[in-house]
Amino acid sequence: MNATKDISSYFTSDQSFDKLYPVSTQLLADKHWTPLKVAKQSAAFLAGEGTPRILDVGSGVGKFCLAAAHYYPAARYFGVEQRAALVEQANAAKKTLQLNNVEFIHGNFADLPLEEYDHFYFFNAFYENLFGTQKIDRSVVYSKDLYEKYMFILFRKLEKMPAGTKLAAFHLRDDRWPEGYHVVGTGMNELLHFLIKL
Ligand SMILES: C[S@@+](CC[C@H](N)C(=O)[O-])C[C@H]1O[C@@H](n2cnc3c(N)ncnc32)[C@H](O)[C@@H]1O
Repeated sequence: MNATKDISSYFTSDQSFDKLYPVSTQLLADKHWTPLKVAKQSAAFLAGEGTPRILDVGSGVGKFCLAAAHYYPAARYFGVEQRAALVEQANAAKKTLQLNNVEFIHGNFADLPLEEYDHFYFFNAFYENLFGTQKIDRSVVYSKDLYEKYMFILFRKLEKMPAGTKLAAFHLRDDRWPEGYHVVGTGMNELLHFLIKL
C-alpha cells in the first residue's frame, strides 16, 4: 500500500476503497460489504449533525464504519465482528485511513450491551446461516437455527432501546421489524430502510 496516497482517493469508488483489503477480501465485496453510497446515506440518517455512538452489528472488514466515519466524522462508530481475521483487516484499513472515531470489537454481538450505543446499522449479518447463500469462508458454523436465534436476540435487544433509537437496515426483509420501530424512509430501490423507535 502507498503510504503517501491521498486518503480521499479511496472514496472515489467502491473499487478504490476495496483496494484497502487483500484481493481475497476484494472478491467478496459485491455480496458482503456495504457499498460507499449505502454507507453515506445510512450515516447521514444515523449520525446527522450530532455526535452519537453508532454500532454496526456484524462489521466484517469495517467498510460501513470506515466510510461513515469519513463522511460524518463528528459521530463515533463501533463495529462488532465474530471473525478475528476480518477485525484485523478492519484495523489495518482504519490505520491507512487515519481515522480516530472508529473502534472494532472482536466478538459475538449477542454478548454486547447494546444500551451503550445510540443507533444501529445492520446489513443482514446472519444471512450466511441460511441454506444456499454465499459464504464469506468456512471458519464458522452455519445453521437456520442460528439465524433465527440471532435475529430473535437482536430484535429483543433493539426493542429494549429508548424511543428515538435509529436503525438503518440494508437487505433486510421489510415485513419483519423489531416491535416499536417505524420506517421513516428508504433508499437504494427500497433495499435500504431507515427506522426510528417511537
Ligand atoms: C454481510 S457482512 C456485513 C459487513 C459490514 N457490516 C459491512 O456492511 O460492510 C456480515 C458480517 O456479520 C458477521 N457476523 C455474523 N453473525 C455475527 C455475530 N453473531 N456476531 C458478530 N458478527 C457476526 C459476519 O462474520 C460478517 O462479517
